[in-house]
Amino acid sequence: MCGIIGVVANKESNKLAELVVSCLTRLEYRGYDSVGVASLSNNFLEVRKAKGTVEEVVKKKNIKDMSGFAFLGHTRWATHGPPTDYNAHPHTDCNNEIAVVHNGTIRNFKELRDELQALGHKFKSETDTEVIPHLIEEYMKRGMDAFQAFKSAIKIIQGSYAVLAIIKGEKRIFFARRDNPLIIGVGEDKNFIASDIPSFLPYTKKVIIIGEGELGYITPSSVYIEDEKGNPIDVLSRMQIIDWDASSASKEGYTHFMLKEIHESPIAVKDTISGFLNDMETVKEVAEEIRRANRIIVIAAGTSYHAGLYFSLLLNRKGYTAIPLIASEYYNIKLSKNDIVLAISQSGETLDVKMGIKKFKEEGAKIVSLTNVIESHIARESNYKLYMRAGPEIGVAATKTFTSQLASLLFLYSVIERESVDYLEKAHEVVRNVITETEGLAKKFGEELAKKSNIYYLGRGLGVPLAMEGALKIKEIAYIHAEAYPAGESKHGPIALVEKGFPVVFINYGELDDELEKNLQEMKARFAITYSISVNKKLNFSDFEILVNADERLSALAIAPIIQMIAYYAAVKRGYDPDKPRNLAKTVTVE
Ligand code: F6R
Repeated sequence: MCGIIGVVANKESNKLAELVVSCLTRLEYRGYDSVGVASLSNNFLEVRKAKGTVEEVVKKKNIKDMSGFAFLGHTRWATHGPPTDYNAHPHTDCNNEIAVVHNGTIRNFKELRDELQALGHKFKSETDTEVIPHLIEEYMKRGMDAFQAFKSAIKIIQGSYAVLAIIKGEKRIFFARRDNPLIIGVGEDKNFIASDIPSFLPYTKKVIIIGEGELGYITPSSVYIEDEKGNPIDVLSRMQIIDWDASSASKEGYTHFMLKEIHESPIAVKDTISGFLNDMETVKEVAEEIRRANRIIVIAAGTSYHAGLYFSLLLNRKGYTAIPLIASEYYNIKLSKNDIVLAISQSGETLDVKMGIKKFKEEGAKIVSLTNVIESHIARESNYKLYMRAGPEIGVAATKTFTSQLASLLFLYSVIERESVDYLEKAHEVVRNVITETEGLAKKFGEELAKKSNIYYLGRGLGVPLAMEGALKIKEIAYIHAEAYPAGESKHGPIALVEKGFPVVFINYGELDDELEKNLQEMKARFAITYSISVNKKLNFSDFEILVNADERLSALAIAPIIQMIAYYAAVKRGYDPDKPRNLAKTVTVE
C-alpha cells in the first residue's frame, strides 16, 4: 500500500510544492519507506525522490523549492524492490517527459518490461510501476495522443492499481483505478486527486469518488471520468460534500483503524496472491527446499504463530514433519541436519523471532521468511524472502495481515503439493463476501460476548488455530478472558468451568463436524450458551450461528475476518479503543 496525491492548478508556483508536502504528510500512514515528488511546468518535468520519511526527503531534496502547475506526490510502502532512492516513485520514461505514481501491484510487469526492453526502453528501478511511463511513451511514439496512450497502458496492465500520470505538454493529471482507492477533491482554482480524502481535506470538502475500473483526467477547472467501456460519467451527479473532521477522515469514515483494516483484507489478499504469482521462482525454490527438508520448524509469535500452526497442520497431514514453535521458546529445539526454518512475522522485527533465527542460523539452518515489511530485519537475515504485501497495518491487533498470512501459506502449501493455485485467485472475493454478509451478525455476537467475563473458543483440526486466534483477539482488545482448545480436549478439564450461561464459540471449519456437534451437546448439557461460526454446513443445535459458503480450501480465509469483527464489536461495546490495546505494542522488540 502506498499514498498518492496529484494537484493541478491554473498558475505555476512553488506554493503548490508546499501544498503537496502537506498532503503527503497526511498520507504517510499509508507507507513510510520512501517519498518522491514530480513537478510539471510548461517546458520542464522534474522528479525529486529518495528513501526516507516525508520530513527527511523534503529536507534532503529541497522539495519545497520545486515549481510547476501540476504536481504528483508519493509515499511508498515497498512491494517490489527494496526501499531505495531509485525504487522511490515517481517513475519516468526514457526522456523524462512522463512521470507516474502508483499504488498497487502489476502482475504482468515482468513480461511487459521484457517487451519494452526489447524495444530499447531503459529501466532505472526494480519496481513494477516503471513499466507504466514506458508504455505511455511507447504508445505516444506510435502516434497516439496523451490520453489514448494512457488508456492503452492501463488496458494492458494486470493487477491492482491507483495510477496518476503527468505528461509534458499537458495541463492535466491522468488517473485510473482498480481495487485501490482514488478520490478527486474539487478546489477553487485547482483540483486534487489522492488515495484518500484526509490528504486534501484542509483545502476542499467537495469530493468525487472514482469507481472501480474507471479512468480519466483532471485539469485545474474540470474533471473527466469514463467507465470501463469508455462511456463518460456525469461527474456533477457524483460530487459530494463531506463533513468529516481530519481524524475521522484518516480512517476513511471508519471509527477505528482496526475496522478499516478488516475491510481492507480483500485487497490485501488480492495483493498477496498477485505478489506470490509474480514471485513464483522464489516460491518454487522454497517449496523444493521444504519437500527436501527433514523437518520444517515454523517459528512465530502471537497471531503469526496461529498462521504458522495452521500451515504446520496442513503439512503434517501430508506426511511432512512440521514443528510449530512459539518464538520465545526457540531454545527448546535442537536442529538436525536438513531441517529448514520458516519464520513468520508481520513486522519482520519481533525480537523473539530474531533470536530464534540467530540460533538456528548458527546451527546451520536455511531460513525462509514470510513478512509484510520488505527488507525488514527478519527478511534480511533469511535465505529466501516471501512477502505478504498486505500494506501497512496501524491497528495494534493484527487483522488483514493474519488473513494475508493464511493466503500466503495456502499458496505455498499448494505449490509444495504441486497443486494448481487457481483457486486462490478468487480468495479475495470470498473474504469480501464474508465481510459484507456477516458483519451485522458478527456485531451481534460481539455485543453479546461483551457482557461475559470468560469465553471458550473450540474447534477441531484446522479450526483449532482459528479458535486460538479468535480467543487471542477478544482477549487483547476487549479484555475478556478467553481460552481456546481443540474441542475434543474440552472434556478433559476445561468443561469443569462450564455452568449456566457460559459462552462457548465453536469454529466449525467444515471437517469433523459430527464430532464437533457432540462437543457442542456436551456444553449444552451444562447449560452453556453456544455460538458457532460455520463454513458450508450448519452446526446443529447451536444457539447462535454464523454460516458462510466458500470453497472448502478457503475456509480459513472465510473465518478469519469473522472472528476479528466479533472481537472488534465486543471491544467497542465495552467502551475500549481497539486500535490501542493496553500493555501492547505493534512491534515487540523486547524478550
Ligand atoms: C495480535 C498481535 C501480536 C503479534 C505478535 C507477532 O493481534 O498483533 O500477537 O501477532 O506480536 O508480531 P509479528 O507478526 O510482527 O512478528
